[in-house]
Amino acid sequence: MRKAIIPAAGLGTRFLPATKAMPKEMLPLIDRPAIQYVVEEAVRAGLTDIVMITGRNKRALEDHFDREPFLEQSLANKGDLSKLAAVQKSSMLADIHYLRQGDPLGLGHAVLKARKHIGNEPFAVLLGDDLLDEQDEILNEMADVQRLTGGSVVALMEVHPSEISAYGCADATQTAGKHLRIKGLVEKPNPSTAPSNLAVIGRYVLHPRIFDILAETPPGRGGEIQLTDALQTLAVAEGPGSGVYGVVFRGRRFDTGDKLSYLKAIFTLALEHVDLGPGIREWLDESLLPVP
Ligand code: G1P
Repeated sequence: MRKAIIPAAGLGTRFLPATKAMPKEMLPLIDRPAIQYVVEEAVRAGLTDIVMITGRNKRALEDHFDREPFLEQSLANKGDLSKLAAVQKSSMLADIHYLRQGDPLGLGHAVLKARKHIGNEPFAVLLGDDLLDEQDEILNEMADVQRLTGGSVVALMEVHPSEISAYGCADATQTAGKHLRIKGLVEKPNPSTAPSNLAVIGRYVLHPRIFDILAETPPGRGGEIQLTDALQTLAVAEGPGSGVYGVVFRGRRFDTGDKLSYLKAIFTLALEHVDLGPGIREWLDESLLPVP
């Protein structure tokens, strides 16, 4: 597997007005935009052919992953080699292609847009808001399960039952292996009727048969074409490429599309940062001292 789709066409309304003129994917986490962490995760899993699905006001994404000759020259002239390397790195990470979604018809529609580029091979989808621990190798595990089963694979995470209405939810059973077999999927269910507390998080390894199904999937929750609905069809289908499986993620995840989770991500990364860690820890210790 070499190809990945990164949908990045969302409007980022939760961060307005910061995202009025800037894509939400460019919000920084320390010194890298959030989207770069996701591209780096794809590259670590060997996915170096990336299709980013964008829309209006997303030009900064293309600029970020492009060369910037004047800036590079100026840093080289100053002898600032570490910044030069950092600037060059984002343009050399992967082969990134850009497609505009056009109509904002949902995640399923965004994935379908990349059909011609992906062709007839399994591929990954990484949602830009989900920031996973750099140490975790869930995509590799999911690719193994895809090879083993010949179906499609989603990443799952146990959440508090009250939170399930923010996610796709899976009805799953254990298999003999480490993965789960998914019997059903429902997008953003009411907690009282949700089949489980297993949430779909933003990593998928999909069989290309999903494209035929997406093309036939009617708008679902929120009037959008839902990837979850297409996966539900695939879960109960027969024949080649059918079947949906789950790998449970137990590591650290932040939803950088949510303000509180975004802040937690920044503090966590800062605490682990070699230069910033000691300073932020000291400041936090002082700030958290009980008021005398
Ligand atoms: C999307 C998917 C949902 C999934 C979630 C993970 O929802 O539709 O099934 O659980 O991502 O982050 P969104 O967060 O875009 O509303």
